[in-house]
Amino acid sequence: MNVPVHPAEALRTALAGLLDGLPPKAATQAVDRLIANYRGTTPTHTPVLRDRSDVVAYAAYRMPATFEAVRSALEAFADAVPQWTPASHVDVGGGTGAATWAVNATWAGARPVTVLDWAEPALALGREIAAANPELKSAEWHRSRIGSALTIESTDLVTVSYVLGELTDADRASVVTAAATAAQAVVIIEPGTPDGYARVIEARDRLITAGFHVAAPCPHSAACPIVPGEDWCHFSARVARSSLHRQVKGGSLPYEDEKFSYVAATRLPPTPAPSRVVRKPQIRKGQVLLDLCGPDEALHRETVTKRHGPLYRAARDADWGDAWPPPPAED
Ligand SMILES: C[S@@+](CC[C@H](N)C(=O)[O-])C[C@H]1O[C@@H](n2cnc3c(N)ncnc32)[C@H](O)[C@@H]1O
Repeated sequence: MNVPVHPAEALRTALAGLLDGLPPKAATQAVDRLIANYRGTTPTHTPVLRDRSDVVAYAAYRMPATFEAVRSALEAFADAVPQWTPASHVDVGGGTGAATWAVNATWAGARPVTVLDWAEPALALGREIAAANPELKSAEWHRSRIGSALTIESTDLVTVSYVLGELTDADRASVVTAAATAAQAVVIIEPGTPDGYARVIEARDRLITAGFHVAAPCPHSAACPIVPGEDWCHFSARVARSSLHRQVKGGSLPYEDEKFSYVAATRLPPTPAPSRVVRKPQIRKGQVLLDLCGPDEALHRETVTKRHGPLYRAARDADWGDAWPPPPAED
């Protein structure tokens, strides 16, 4: 009997296979070029991912991290809309398809999927990698430029993952407006930096104006209580390091933590987390300090001590990014 392979596992295997036969030096050089390009001034007027070695480097080096960040955001979103499963998905600026894999890992099953990107080599490689997943085999990969002319066909879910930072102000507005017009749910993910967070907040405001409710990470759809310039809302996803990572970055840690900011919003009425843990919990002797964003549209620190009994045990298990208090365990 064939045991179905989890999408995360299938993706790891497919990506490891990409480097087979590529001399280690060639792979390292492609990654170095990629990193240099991404350090250049963005937005760019032509695709950064120009050829096969660029996209192989992107897929092998960055895609495991963007996949885990998107998966984390989608899991929080799925918790806020437990009855809902997207029947169709469009991934804008989808590149090699990290978000399509993350959607499939969150809601199993085949669905119509369209990936839009302006870089043909990224689409070609994405199609090739997706062949390893029977539920993504029928995905369509189309060349499309994000701009004022962008229209997205009506769909349940639009993802825009690690794209806004490559766009002009006007194109950032266009893609969010097009997504809000096309979809019931929009999930936007950016690097977990002050600039990434600023772009997420801009998109969040635009989605709320378009009639969406914020489902995650925020417990409410009011203004974000974080003061820009003082802090930024971001989370962390653990990523198993590939041999290429170890080759490029050295060190022996088997994992690294990808920091990301996100907003997941929907036209459906969501049930957001009562509060969200917005920093790594601090575990002290007999107490846990939780930094929370709450439904009263403010940030609080809650101290949970041994005297709180089961809640204390839950606090010790709580992770950065979790809902607080945790939902009751299912039987
Ligand atoms: C950092 S990659 C992210 C890829 C993928 N979404 C992920 O999460 O791994 C940015 C992607 O946006 C695409 N992109 C950037 N500007 C674009 C534009 N104006 N129109 C269409 N795609 C664009 C790039 O080609 C690239 O595939």
